[in-house]
Amino acid sequence: DLYNFRLIGLDTKVHGVIGNPIGHSKSPHLYNAAFKSINFNGIYLPLLVDSIANFIDTYNSPDFVGYSFTIPHKEAGLKCCDEIDPKAKEIGAVNCMIRRPTDGKLIGYNVDYLGAIAAIEEGLRALNGSSNTSGSLLAGKLFVVMGAGGAGKALAYGGKEKGARVVIANRTYDKAKALADKVGGEAITLAELENFHPEDGMVLANTTSVGMKPRTDQTPISKKALKHYSLVFDAIYTPKWTRLLQEAQESGAAVVFGTEMLLNQAFVQIENFSGVPAPKQLIRDVLARNT
Ligand code: ATR
Repeated sequence: DLYNFRLIGLDTKVHGVIGNPIGHSKSPHLYNAAFKSINFNGIYLPLLVDSIANFIDTYNSPDFVGYSFTIPHKEAGLKCCDEIDPKAKEIGAVNCMIRRPTDGKLIGYNVDYLGAIAAIEEGLRALNGSSNTSGSLLAGKLFVVMGAGGAGKALAYGGKEKGARVVIANRTYDKAKALADKVGGEAITLAELENFHPEDGMVLANTTSVGMKPRTDQTPISKKALKHYSLVFDAIYTPKWTRLLQEAQESGAAVVFGTEMLLNQAFVQIENFSGVPAPKQLIRDVLARNT
């Protein structure tokens, strides 16, 4: 049973994930289980939506207090918020919207970048064998982001915020350059990335769709070039082991799965919705049971 029927009543806080398709989404499983475990009187619905603007007009009811946006609505989400958090505005994408209790306005946030950066930092902490959580392990590191779309933007901003030296490598140079100029980084093409190794121990993130199911034989970077990296993150989570992550591991790098971004992003949203810490292990277990 997905919902906590024992608590549902007139004051239940309603949330939902807006997407199309939405049937495959794991989020309702994760969020409802989390709400139940922390005894939060909320539900989280899968909402199949074609047009965001029409949807918000219809469902802009005070009972609806939180939305998550998923494909293809991340950029459209920007247009339905009453206010946008400055970071989400810079990134140019909103993937979470919360109704402010004081005036009922819908405020848009980007939690993609928080989720991805938290996953990478956790990976770096494990690599260093350090339990020191103060300060960012990305600070001062060369952080290469492959791709300059929505996810690439989020990662580049997140890396910059943590004090990393950001390099954006994209198939289309102009897009890499535009993003690099905006965040204060360097731009190269994916072809140039093959011979780009100013130092060893760099951190690599893939945000391109190369390697995603069904084209699992593809990879955005050669195995030879991977030896210069200490940690490789892939935003793709179908499959879990992309060719990139397999080859990264064979090259001796630590790997961070796309599901870690999904999980860390869910932790942030659940905390934002409920106001209390997310039950992290429980959420991990629910995801494992539903994949
Ligand atoms: P998302 O919002 O998930 O980041 P997107 O905005 O469509 O998705 O961006 C897709 C990214 O994957 C882009 O950086 C794209 O490169 P281009 O800017 O050159 O289009 C990259 N990408 C997609 N298919 C690719 C391919 N076959 N080879 C290399 N890069 C690819």
